[in-house]
Amino acid sequence: MSPVFECEDLRYQYLERFTALDGVSLTVERGETVALLGANGCGKSTLLKLLDGLLFADSGTFTAFGEQVTEDKLEDEQFNHGFRARVGFVFQNSDAQVFSPSVREEIAFGCLQLGLDRDTATARVEDVLALLDIAELADRAPFQLSGGQKKRVAIASVLVMNPEVLLFDEPTAALDPRTQFWLIELLEQLRAAGKTIVLATHDLDTLPSLADRCVVFGEDHRIIADAPTAAVLDDRDLLLSANLIHARSAFAGVRARS
Ligand SMILES: Nc1ncnc2c1ncn2[C@@H]1O[C@H](COP(=O)(O)OP(=O)(O)O)[C@@H](O)[C@H]1O
Ligand SMILES: [Mg+2]
Repeated sequence: MSPVFECEDLRYQYLERFTALDGVSLTVERGETVALLGANGCGKSTLLKLLDGLLFADSGTFTAFGEQVTEDKLEDEQFNHGFRARVGFVFQNSDAQVFSPSVREEIAFGCLQLGLDRDTATARVEDVLALLDIAELADRAPFQLSGGQKKRVAIASVLVMNPEVLLFDEPTAALDPRTQFWLIELLEQLRAAGKTIVLATHDLDTLPSLADRCVVFGEDHRIIADAPTAAVLDDRDLLLSANLIHARSAFAGVRARS
């Protein structure tokens, strides 16, 4: 079976001058959970947008499920729907994702876009409202939700399509501890259910139970390490040089000693 994603030598610049990715190659296999790590601005969000077909590389190739993904291909409705049904993206900022008049409509939106009939969409929406324990929010407008509730709704609007691959951009950022805990448990459940997950995060503590592999970006927008999670987290010099911990952080030092 072909890998879920194959990226070869991807380069991307914003406005043809601000480099975001500079020769990035990586493969994501089916069922893997891969964490993208790196300092602010190193290119994690850009890579996730390329993986979701929201941006297109200036050079290099991006292959998903064995087929090259290009802007032209995604203009084809059939290819587009096939790709969109298989890959879901939870943005870092839920406000960029949640915009319908009500939570129920927000969650139904993607299903209707993909051409599911209303009854099927309604049944799926009810399922995912129950799964994420947000049934009581169903008739609220997005502006009536807290940040944590909005995150749940954004996740619901992706899970409702039951994609094989889930992309998360800093999912636990700006959430209170209880909501973070809930989210980590959800990610673990999705992983156990066999989903392929790629997530960008700064939250190193959660990685041992969550990620099979860590891909570390340097501030030069290139990958400086791609290794099993334990190997990356035990490499204090790597974590320091990638600006993932600071000199007074106990992280990795403590792990290495214990
Ligand atoms: N819309 C944009 N216009 C210009 N430069 C951008 C834009 N978005 C991101 N960048 C630049 O691209 C680089 C990578 O950004 P990003 O992918 O957001 O990094 P990360 O998610 O790792 O913080 C950064 O240097 C950032 O300044
Ligand atoms: Mg980012």
